[in-house]
Amino acid sequence: MEIVILDGCAAGDPFSGLLLDLTRKHGFAVRHFALSSLSMAPCTGDFDCWMRTPGSCRSRDAGQDIACAMRHAGLVVLLTPVVSGGYSAALKKAIDRLIGLIHPFFSERDGLTRHHPRYQNYPPMLFLGVGDDVEAAATFHEYAGGNAINLIAPRYLSRVIAPASANWQDELASALHAALDINAGDRFPVPLPDALMQVCTPEQTAVSEPPESAVIFIGSARAKGCSTSEALALTLSASLEASGTRCSLVHAKAFIKPGDAADQALDTMLGAPLLIVAAPLYVDGLPYLVVSALEQLAQRLDIDRAGQRLNQLVALLNCGYPEAIHNRIAIRQLRHFAAQQGLAWRGGLALGGGELIHGRPLKKHRFLLRRPIRALTLAGAALARGQAIPVAAIELLARPLMPAPVFRWMSRVYWIWKARSNGISRKDLDFKPHPEKL
Ligand SMILES: Cc1cc2nc3c(=O)[nH]c(=O)nc-3n(C[C@H](O)[C@H](O)[C@H](O)COP(=O)(O)O)c2cc1C
Repeated sequence: MEIVILDGCAAGDPFSGLLLDLTRKHGFAVRHFALSSLSMAPCTGDFDCWMRTPGSCRSRDAGQDIACAMRHAGLVVLLTPVVSGGYSAALKKAIDRLIGLIHPFFSERDGLTRHHPRYQNYPPMLFLGVGDDVEAAATFHEYAGGNAINLIAPRYLSRVIAPASANWQDELASALHAALDINAGDRFPVPLPDALMQVCTPEQTAVSEPPESAVIFIGSARAKGCSTSEALALTLSASLEASGTRCSLVHAKAFIKPGDAADQALDTMLGAPLLIVAAPLYVDGLPYLVVSALEQLAQRLDIDRAGQRLNQLVALLNCGYPEAIHNRIAIRQLRHFAAQQGLAWRGGLALGGGELIHGRPLKKHRFLLRRPIRALTLAGAALARGQAIPVAAIELLARPLMPAPVFRWMSRVYWIWKARSNGISRKDLDFKPHPEKL
């Protein structure tokens, strides 16, 4: 049996070293991907791995080797420091590249929409986080469970080990031991109905000084003008501006590589009191480019907190599944980030069925999108007055745009039509580039 390790820790991390020693000691073949030193393009967010080259990413780099290795693994171990309840940027980049392993069509499972499998078998998964914050660990476990469902693992385990623990070596060994036991596994998470509302609700509703400026960080990897995140951001920005708050937009593409564009984007984000992160959901959490930007923002805040004007954070998430509740984990990541960085959490907004928008201005579909328009107008006016996001706006945006069964049926027709326009037949959509395990 081969164990595949997706290692999101920094080079030379003692947890990586011990994990490698242990797996080898058990006599397994090990495929170790040291992600922080691998050159890999981020996902571009356009579903080419479903609609153009079914089953494979178009970027020919280590991302493809990882997807292929996962197909033949007996166990996949994901190792990472716990960063705001999620994964390191290095691990998230690799995970975002895995959606070709699943099929675009939707069906319902435990009351929520999920993707069909592309293959018959998928490997079990062990998620190993390194961190000592109990609340962030709870987010990490739910995130891991969500990934295990989305990546169709037959079973999974999630463990967070405190680096300062005297027994960390034993804890790591016993996590690996448990993951190798075919009868062991954590329960797949099913969110409570009010889980989204709980995380979106602002901490304190007290009015602060009205922010004279705000920055909206568009976290989509898609090109400018093509993302749902941007369309939502523009409606929110119009409302903020109408109420007297100047708004600038910063695009995640600035963070594809380090350099002037990323530095300028960070300066802009740090130069206004209010930061709104408008992002899509990628594999249950924040996309790689957002995680990377937040890691860099945290570093800048560590260096010079007093010199920065940024003091409030808002989340505006959208996801592909029709149920807005899928966004809860990404919003929790942002809430942890706010708490760690001493930023006031001014609330979260979440939309399901985001592909229905795909860059089109919201007012082009005034009837279908009447509730999102109203929600964002309400939210912008409140933020500009120095208030937090009103509960009514959170509820309005989270309402489904259409019944989930209708959405699932329409999506199927859309995917087939979209693939055809790329010269891909219905049958080709099921293509399996990596053969089944024997
Ligand atoms: C790599 C990747 C992973 C995704 N994972 C999820 C997911 O876990 N759950 C979900 O509901 N949507 C998921 N989506 C769908 C996007 O959230 C959805 O298409 C969204 O509307 C895109 O917004 P944007 O146009 O702002 O990028 C994923 C999309 C991509 C590209």
